[in-house]
Amino acid sequence: MCLLIAVLLSVPVGGQVDPTQARITLQPPWTSMFPEETITLWCEGPHLPGDSSTQWFLNGTAIQTSTPRYSISSASASDAGEYRCQTGLSEPSDPIQLEIHRDWLLLQVSRRVLMEGESLALRCHGWKNKLVYNVLFYQNGKTFKFLPWNSEFTILKTSVNHNGIYHCSGMGWHRYTSAGVSVTVKELFTPPVLTASLVSPLLEGTQVNLSCETTLLPQRPALQLYFSFFLGNKTLRARSTSTKYQILAARREDSGSYWCEAATEDGNILKRSPELELQVLGLQSPISVWFKVLYYPAMGIIFIVDTFLCTLVHRELQRKKKWNLEICLDSDPWKKVTSDLQKDRYLEGKLKSPEQEQPQEKTHQKKPQEGEQQ
Ligand SMILES: *[C@@H]1O[C@H](CO)[C@@H](O)[C@H](O)[C@H]1NC(C)=O
Ligand SMILES: *[C@@H]1O[C@H](CO)[C@@H](O)[C@H](O)[C@H]1NC(C)=O
Ligand SMILES: *[C@@H]1O[C@H](CO)[C@@H](O)[C@H](O)[C@H]1NC(C)=O
Repeated sequence: MCLLIAVLLSVPVGGQVDPTQARITLQPPWTSMFPEETITLWCEGPHLPGDSSTQWFLNGTAIQTSTPRYSISSASASDAGEYRCQTGLSEPSDPIQLEIHRDWLLLQVSRRVLMEGESLALRCHGWKNKLVYNVLFYQNGKTFKFLPWNSEFTILKTSVNHNGIYHCSGMGWHRYTSAGVSVTVKELFTPPVLTASLVSPLLEGTQVNLSCETTLLPQRPALQLYFSFFLGNKTLRARSTSTKYQILAARREDSGSYWCEAATEDGNILKRSPELELQVLGLQSPISVWFKVLYYPAMGIIFIVDTFLCTLVHRELQRKKKWNLEICLDSDPWKKVTSDLQKDRYLEGKLKSPEQEQPQEKTHQKKPQEGEQQ
């Protein structure tokens, strides 16, 4: 079982392993152990022909071993520390921290620092190999795995979500709890961001360059990523090493949500960009946009002016109608005649009346009276 895990763990992830760098594998795979336990370190890397010599370093100091295999048969506190190895043609390996703990229960991990996509094995290990059951695993204080009869399992593909402090608890004589172990999963490359050389909306016929950008982990500058470009659910271009995608002459049908994907060669790690909305306007479109912008207010104004004019005209018409009616009434021949007659009569009466009227008679009568008195 341990051998199998060791083999599993030594499988390079996505061809991301630098072939010029040496690499340490552990057997059993755990980076921590109880005192008196046994462990073997293996160093893999390119050698000069006929020379398999290997250099080992503990805490930066060379140790007296020149074989690819370094064995610790009964671990003690002095075996703890940072191990590195180097072969004839290799760069020094990444370090492995080996820890020796004295406890009832030990949470063992295959790596404390790893790249996303690599596997991580965990084991809840009892002192002197005592059986533990009903094992609970915790990440950042929260249980995430329960194993009734086993005490070991593997996260096959880690991501940055697996960062954190792990510990475990298990039943023996009673429930024991381990100390915490910090695990760091490094991001090989950041999630890509899709950008366009022009801002949306674009005019039909313009050239647009899309760019899918990510940042590689500094320790893996040679990592080759593959980029895919999509419009909605349509693949524009799948898996190419170019981070650019060109739209030579945008058409209105090219409008939509663009996104890209960056992946390792084996597709083990695949990250998607946020969507980028692009709108392509037809050539007549700006005019039609302006037309729409101006059409409705213009129509509104015309309507208001129209209504106003209509009311004016209507009122004027009504006035004219009344006037006409009056004229008509006035020009009614019979009425005119009668009214003229009436008018005449009235005038006649007015003219005649002074002689007939009494007051005048009275004054006439009065005068002689006055004269009589004088
Ligand atoms: C190596 O360093 C660790 C601390 O990082 C220490 O515990 C250990 O004893 C050192 N080992 C040797 C052999 O100096
Ligand atoms: C797009 O890229 C091509 C070639 O890389 C370049 O010639 C062109 O000017 C770019 N266009 C824009 C709009 O950036
Ligand atoms: C792709 O998207 C279109 C419209 O958004 C939808 O009608 C179609 O069913 C989708 N196809 C798939 C395979 O999801």
